[in-house]
Parts: sequence; structure tokens; C-alpha cells
Amino acid sequence: MRILAVETSCDDTAVALLSSCGAIAERVHSQEIHEDHGGVVPELASRDHMKVLPILVNEVLQSADSSEIDVYAATAGPGLVGSLLVGLSWAKAAAWSSGKRFLGINHLAAHLHIHYCPDRPVDFPAAALIVSGGHTSIFRMDSWKSAVLLGSTRDDAAGEAFDKTAKIMGLGYPGGAFLDAAADDGDPSAVRLPSPMGDRTVPEFSFSGLKTAAKLAWEAGASVPDLSASFRRTVVDLLISKLLHQARRIRARSVLVAGGVCANSLLRKELRLECRQQGFSLFLPDRVHATDNALMVGRAAAAVLDRDPGASSPNSCNAFARWSGDLLEPLTCQ
Ligand code: KG4
Ligand code: ZN
Repeated sequence: MRILAVETSCDDTAVALLSSCGAIAERVHSQEIHEDHGGVVPELASRDHMKVLPILVNEVLQSADSSEIDVYAATAGPGLVGSLLVGLSWAKAAAWSSGKRFLGINHLAAHLHIHYCPDRPVDFPAAALIVSGGHTSIFRMDSWKSAVLLGSTRDDAAGEAFDKTAKIMGLGYPGGAFLDAAADDGDPSAVRLPSPMGDRTVPEFSFSGLKTAAKLAWEAGASVPDLSASFRRTVVDLLISKLLHQARRIRARSVLVAGGVCANSLLRKELRLECRQQGFSLFLPDRVHATDNALMVGRAAAAVLDRDPGASSPNSCNAFARWSGDLLEPLTCQ
């Protein structure tokens, strides 16, 4: 089964060609046009997807003839609707004009499906964390069919807090990776920061107060390395203590982590250490597949097709900005 997968939910244009869950070819283009604005400008993002998507599709199809594609898959949401519509409309049109099927995929479920590949099967039950620029949520998974939401952030996502704190310090955009690098030279105990919603038994997060405390510390003269190190330490402790508490509570065998923030070096190091000590099998994507990519969309489609080989989404499949509910499923349209 050949799948051509497209991801355009925010500011990365990505295309992947898969044979079942295995990558044959993949491309990601990260938009740099937003740097001067300090945040994603939706209209610029949509227009750039329009320009770049056909180029990436052509590059990926160097490895296969388009007649060999069985299914087209694209992210339907959540994300920026103008951006989503570019990839979604392209994939629907490609499927329709070639008489092939189309699948609309949920972006959050796709992040988790980067770990879907029967080569190294996940042992369920699993506790899963999606930690990105737009989301910070913990799920319970008993199979790949769906994930049950245990709790989310009440305000900012962890990546958003990283980006806003980096911006205060003038570290560039998106700032998560810059702050991560700056933190390596700092002392994590130098700046005293609060741990909002710090009770590890509560699977919810709150990062906006932490961001404000970091701003006050910056204005009071904290250095870039020390503030970065203290901020990173606080966020990583909150993420790991809450995730692993849920993993113990549901007697998980595996711990799955996905989303851009799991490229963070301290988070990766501590997760590996803690999961080894506590006996959980850890699934952590490589850094390229932590941030938005199309392989995860293709793998979510592969999982749907493995369960139901005849699955398809309707041609009316629409984009959606937000996901709400308790049950996260890979095949989703509005
Ligand atoms: O998953 P992603 O590519 O897009 C969303 O779906 O949001 O995540 C992007 C987020 C940004 O907030 C970015 O700053 C953050 O991931 N990020 C990091 C690191 N690398 C990327 N945050 C902390 N440390 C990093 N090394
Ligand atoms: Zn994402």
C-alpha cells in the first residue's frame, strides 16, 4: 500500500511517500518568512504552502510514479485553517482526479503515530504526552484505535511558553531550540521560578504564570543562560513528573512522547533516565520527527488502513481549527 501524506497545519510544509508505515521519501520545508514578525502570520503561511507544496510533491515523486499511489492523506486539523486548506484541498483533488482514496487525518493523533510501525510495536497500555507549540496534553492509550484525554494545559502550551520566554530575552523565533541551547551554559538553580499547577497527580498544566515570572526575572537582571536553564528545568520537571505519575497510575508498559518540544535536550535526557529507572519502554521520536512532518500523517493513515483496508474520508472533509473531546482518533474531518 503506497500512501502520499501531506502536512500543512501551521508553518511547516511537509510531504512523505510511504510503503505502509515505512518512509520511501520525505521532505519538510520550515517557513522562515515569519521570523521578522516574531510569530506565525496566517496569510503568509497559507501563501507559502501554496508555493512550496507542489515543489515538495515533485521531489518526493522522484522516488515513485504517481500511478503507484493508492491513498492520499492530509492533515484536516487542528491548526491554522488557511494553512490546512492548502494541503487538504491538494490531497483531495489529487485523489479525486486519479480515482484514488483520500483520508483526512487529525494532527494530534498523527504526532503520536510517529511511533506506529510494527517493526518496534508499542506495548499497551501506554501513557502519551503531546508537547508542542500549540498543545500540551496527556493521554491514555490501550491500542492505536484511540487515545483517551487525561488532561491538557489550561492556558499556554509548553512550546508557546518556550517561544514567548525566548522572545523576551531576544533569542529569535521560534525560540524553543535557542533557549534550549542557551540553557546548556546556565545554572538551573540560579533563578527562582514558580511551578504552577505543580501537583504531579493533576494531569493538567498552566504555563502562562511561569512565563510572566520569567519576564519579571529578566527585567530584574537575570542572565540569558541562567534564566534559560531555570526555565527549562522547571518546564521539564512539570512535564515528566505529571506524565510518569499517570504512567504509574494506569500501570502503563510504555511511555510515548511527541511534538516539537520533545526535541528539547534536557527533556530527552531525563525521560530516558526516568523511564529506564521506572521500567517503562520509552518511545521518543528523533528530533526531525518531533516537530511537524508528513511521515507521522502517513503512519496515522497506515494505522487506519491496517484496521480497515477500505477506509476513506468524504470529499466534503473540511479543515478545523481546534480539537476538543475526550477521544482522539486518527481519521477526523469536519
Ligand atoms: O510540533 P511542532 O513542530 O508544531 C506544533 O504543532 O506546534 O512544535 C513546535 C514547537 C515550537 O514552540 C518550538 O519552539 C518547540 O516546538 N521546540 C522546542 C525545541 N525545538 C522545538 N522547544 C524546546 N526545546 C527545543 N529544543
Ligand atoms: Zn504539531
